[in-house]
Amino acid sequence: MDERLARYITELFAAEDDALAAVRSRHAREGLPDILISADEGKLIHVLLRAVRAARVLELGTLGGYSGVWIARALPPEGRLVTVERDPRHAAVARRAFAEAGVADRVELRQGTALDVLPQLVPPFDAVFLDADKENLPAYFDWSMRLLRTGGLLLCDNAFFAGAVVDPAEPSTGAHGVREFNRLAAADPRLAATIVPVRDGLLVGVKVAD
Ligand code: SAH
Ligand code: DHB
Ligand code: MG
Repeated sequence: MDERLARYITELFAAEDDALAAVRSRHAREGLPDILISADEGKLIHVLLRAVRAARVLELGTLGGYSGVWIARALPPEGRLVTVERDPRHAAVARRAFAEAGVADRVELRQGTALDVLPQLVPPFDAVFLDADKENLPAYFDWSMRLLRTGGLLLCDNAFFAGAVVDPAEPSTGAHGVREFNRLAAADPRLAATIVPVRDGLLVGVKVAD
């Protein structure tokens, strides 16, 4: 998207308040990788979660908690975000971010590898946001479909994978995982899905049948 138009959306609809800005600056200060979602993407996720009245959400890939704060704020007071992070350093930064942003009571951070944690989770979830490693995305697709309620939302970041999805010369396992995930989401009759061209692409799907 045109950078000016993205900025227009962000300024009008997705301006960060002090708490979100603080999470972002903590993230930078701690030297975490600059791969968090953008504010306009956070607002899109927020709107979609509100549209399905999401109360129980699963996130894979917490990093410093920035997307988690956007998600937690879309939940009702009794809502819950379960977020999974493999890196203990990232998890520690995220815990402080959730406390500082005042959403710690709504967030359950599971430190561990997604494929180890997923079998412990009890359905149903109203939404799943996939933003961890890309290699295992085909497995995450199956887990998501198992954990989501009918009418639930499947969201996946980096659906374009920096353009690699349309570059046949890009052979990385990450690119393979994203391409395969997108294909699964497009073809599965239980899902109505598309990719929204925000930042690096957000795949959005609704589970329309069991
Ligand atoms: N959602 C975050 C960004 C996530 S970056 C945001 O927008 O704010 C990806 C994160 O996934 C990193 O913190 C990385 O450590 C974590 N990760 C990578 N592979 C993982 C795995 N297999 N299980 C759990 N977390 C994983
Ligand atoms: C990468 C991963 C992400 O989740 C992201 O949003 C941007 C970049 C990466 O692995 O490079
Ligand atoms: Mg991402």
